[in-house]
Amino acid sequence: MKLTTLAKVATDSSLPLLLSLARSFVTPLYRAGFLTGALNSGVLQHLSATGMDLDTLADALAITEDRHLLRAWLDLGVRLGELSIDTGTYRLKSRTAKALARPKNDSVAAALEEVVRFHLPVLLNGPAMLRHGDRLSMTDQDGTVIARSSRVVSAFVEEAIERVIDPAAALRLLEIGCGSGEYIRHAATLNPRLTALAVDYQTEVAAEAAANIARWGLSDRVEVRHADVRELELEPQFDLIAMHNNIYYFPLEERTKLLEQARSLLAPGGRLLLTTSCRGGNLSMEVLNLWFEFADFGGPLPDAIELADGLRRAGFGTVDVRRLIPGEQFCAFVASSPREHIA
Ligand SMILES: C[S@@+](CC[C@H](N)C(=O)[O-])C[C@H]1O[C@@H](n2cnc3c(N)ncnc32)[C@H](O)[C@@H]1O
Repeated sequence: MKLTTLAKVATDSSLPLLLSLARSFVTPLYRAGFLTGALNSGVLQHLSATGMDLDTLADALAITEDRHLLRAWLDLGVRLGELSIDTGTYRLKSRTAKALARPKNDSVAAALEEVVRFHLPVLLNGPAMLRHGDRLSMTDQDGTVIARSSRVVSAFVEEAIERVIDPAAALRLLEIGCGSGEYIRHAATLNPRLTALAVDYQTEVAAEAAANIARWGLSDRVEVRHADVRELELEPQFDLIAMHNNIYYFPLEERTKLLEQARSLLAPGGRLLLTTSCRGGNLSMEVLNLWFEFADFGGPLPDAIELADGLRRAGFGTVDVRRLIPGEQFCAFVASSPREHIA
């Protein structure tokens, strides 16, 4: 290197900045992007069982063309430290890659995918969207990924369900925005006499819930309907209405009406169980809040006090609020209908 070049570089403050960015931001971003692609393509899952050479892996992924590009992509994963290669066989290398490939960590894998595919774009494009008057729509997210990632809080939601389910009495449940249907399965396991109507607005989510309900042998007790809950015409027949992780799919100004509708569908003495992240939680929840602020169909995460007031305004008699995760703003709201049904 020429001395003049060295002098230029030594006095150029952009070079240390670039090196610090590469270390702190760029490599972690690349790793997150690679792992997300490896997860949603099935690469991690295939390699978790056994090491594979390029052609075996390409066959497993049904990639018939341009396999040299798959090699280039895999080699980048090796460079990032997520994979290893030994005599042509690719294997999972990093602890993170191995952990994410385990089926029991599926909700965390989906949460990573949610951050990379949906949270990053709102940070990237927010101001440009505002300049062009654009908003996010439901098709800007992937309902099946979200249904899986919502399960990161499953232990806490299940505890909330356990608190409201009487294990012995016959019980009619309506679940609004059922996602995978896992919470209905939990409720049905707690109470063998429970029957349910599960509703989800997204076609592919409702289809997956129906397939899951059939696979779990619950089709005779649980009906899954693809519908917008706001358009359902039902009798007031439900002992329990559950809404998990979806109040922010409804615009703020529509929420009282929705809660009134839920109350009107309860049998006398019935209860609404609503679990949700509220404002003021961790950074991911604040980005989720931003996403829904930018959405053309939903609204911000609720403020816990305002939501409790909204439930009272919607005609519920008592409203019990419980924080489900210590130190977090993830709450369960249990609202009881008055004993006498209000038409
Ligand atoms: C974040 S997911 C949560 C899924 C599930 N409740 C859970 O906690 O795992 C929110 C779900 O609510 C559904 N949803 C949103 N608006 C709805 C509406 N108007 N009627 C019925 N379902 C709705 C979405 O389709 C989505 O599947």
